[in-house]
Amino acid sequence: MTIPHKYWSPRGRGIWRYASMLPLGSGISLGEGGTPLVESSLSSNLYIKFEGTNPTGSFKDRGMALGVTVARESRAEKVIVASTGNTAASAAAYAARAGLKCYVLLPRGNVARGKLIQAALHGAEIIMINGFFDTALRYVLEHGTKYAYPLNSFNPWRLEGQKTIAFEIYEELGCPDYVIVPVGNAGNISAIWKGFRELGELGLCRKLPRMVGVQAEGAAPLAVAWQRGLKSPLFVDKPKTIASAIRIGRPINWPKAMAAVEQSGGLFIAVSDSEIAEAQRLLASRDGIGAEPAGAASVAAALRLKVSGTVVAVVTGHALKDPDVIEISVREIKDSRELLLLLEGA
Ligand code: F0G
Repeated sequence: MTIPHKYWSPRGRGIWRYASMLPLGSGISLGEGGTPLVESSLSSNLYIKFEGTNPTGSFKDRGMALGVTVARESRAEKVIVASTGNTAASAAAYAARAGLKCYVLLPRGNVARGKLIQAALHGAEIIMINGFFDTALRYVLEHGTKYAYPLNSFNPWRLEGQKTIAFEIYEELGCPDYVIVPVGNAGNISAIWKGFRELGELGLCRKLPRMVGVQAEGAAPLAVAWQRGLKSPLFVDKPKTIASAIRIGRPINWPKAMAAVEQSGGLFIAVSDSEIAEAQRLLASRDGIGAEPAGAASVAAALRLKVSGTVVAVVTGHALKDPDVIEISVREIKDSRELLLLLEGA
């Protein structure tokens, strides 16, 4: 496969709008990308890049479109992923579309219900392991790749698709001062940084954004290392956070993510579960944006950092992915008169 020369010529919709910047000119699509950039009321100059509107409800669809296209073109019959849930949901949907068999390895008890349901609905073979995501990924690397095409974020095609987040931000806003990204396996922050770097190389972005990687306090191998001035992560054996999507202790893409943060003059930061829950609540109740906890982590970081300049927080997944973390309060009424009293404020 020859990699064509890149040039900036956006045309059409979704990620394939940027075909001239991608190593593939076309491919499988479910309408991924083209997500909204919404001005937030939570802080001045804060914009939310809401990835929850992708076909399966997370940014993973951008990379899966390319990854599954390559799997099909290389005549693979099976694809495989380890996942905290969203990669599994996305791989299952795109593999279904391409007519490929999909195996997903999930850490038992560590996957949000909505994501599991998606993987099942799209017909993936669901395999549960005891342990965390990091063990599932190790299994894929040890044995999965011999028999199936792997679609985790060490797959470069995935990152090529995900870099289109940078292109969309650029088209709407130019180059912001900061881009804040929740970090789990550390692929997405690397992908978005690649997108901005390419815009810089083409002379489109004169000042590249500072990349901010956000982890949850109980799963912060990069953020803790960063705080201590270390250049490599302090791996976590038992990651713990409500944000199950980023409950990861050994991010495989850490060298790329560290480089993205260093080269851009950014930083890593850890936020607490209560900050994540509060950001999720504020996003939903003030901005009308339903984020899953990992997605809201970027907003929690924005609210903590209070930097000046234009800030884009990437909200990576939809609230419906993880319904069990939401507290629901309801009222019951017996007749319509009670409704009247309630509406009158009695
Ligand atoms: N936000 C959400 C909602 C995610 O699902 C993930 C990763 C991330 C952020 C972090 O992205 O791994 O590229 O640093 N989810 C993976 C999965 C691990 O299996 O769905 P990353």
